[in-house]
Amino acid sequence: MKTIIELRNVHKNYGKIEALKGISLSINEGEIYGIVGPNGSGKTTLLRIICGLIKPTRGEVRVLGLNPYVYFDETRRYIGYLPEEADTYDLLSGFEHLHLYAKLYNLNTEDIKYGVELAALDNRIYDLTRGYSKGMKRRLLLALVLMRKPKVALLDEPTAGLDVHTSLKIRRAIKKYVKETGASVIISSHNMLEIEEVCDRVGLIFKGKIVAEGTVEELLRKYSARNLEEVFETVTGEVS
Ligand SMILES: Nc1ncnc2c1ncn2[C@@H]1O[C@H](COP(=O)(O)OP(=O)(O)OP(=O)(O)O)[C@@H](O)[C@H]1O
Ligand SMILES: [Mg+2]
Repeated sequence: MKTIIELRNVHKNYGKIEALKGISLSINEGEIYGIVGPNGSGKTTLLRIICGLIKPTRGEVRVLGLNPYVYFDETRRYIGYLPEEADTYDLLSGFEHLHLYAKLYNLNTEDIKYGVELAALDNRIYDLTRGYSKGMKRRLLLALVLMRKPKVALLDEPTAGLDVHTSLKIRRAIKKYVKETGASVIISSHNMLEIEEVCDRVGLIFKGKIVAEGTVEELLRKYSARNLEEVFETVTGEVS
């Protein structure tokens, strides 16, 4: 299997705060990897480092063989990033967003069609996004990231704050995308139950360290647990 993302002993300090304390990871082509941990455990920092937006204090990062911080423009062509706090332009419709991105990234009408399908907003795609609910905006933002078919998609809490139904739609869209394109995806979340369902492999992150990693089945077996929350409790000694 081809390795697409590789991290070796990555540390990140913000002044005295040690946000990441030696993260090593290897993510394959066509894999959906879940990075799961509580608030402040380092998920966003990790994704921003893989994206090349921030420089690790120590350690090595490779995305498709390149250091994303040094080769930012080159790697960014292959990376789609959905930030935690992304928002839309109030006075543009969903459809106009798709067109704007298509222009920015040189995409064609087929790609826009794909974006419309991914957003799954039906006729509401023509409404101004200021009238969208949180879930509708998140779906549109995800479509904007995936419509340009990135080889690597980094999705920071794609379903945070969304209801079960909307979360399900988003998860299905991600799975479908990977099936169709063979891309590698990292999804961060603090919702352990949700991650179980969508990810091929999971890394539990706690205080800047990966404390357990494997397929959900492997982790449940290893820790004699019924779900990832129980694994987390056992590994960290803390109630999640
Ligand atoms: N720009 C920054 N300056 C200083 N400290 C930061 C900065 N960004 C993150 N941190 C700290 O680094 C640690 C990890 O933060 P990070 O945002 O990566 O966690 P997270 O797992 O994404 O949390 P959440 O689930 O709340 O989004 C926290 O202690 C946070 O306060
Ligand atoms: Mg975060």
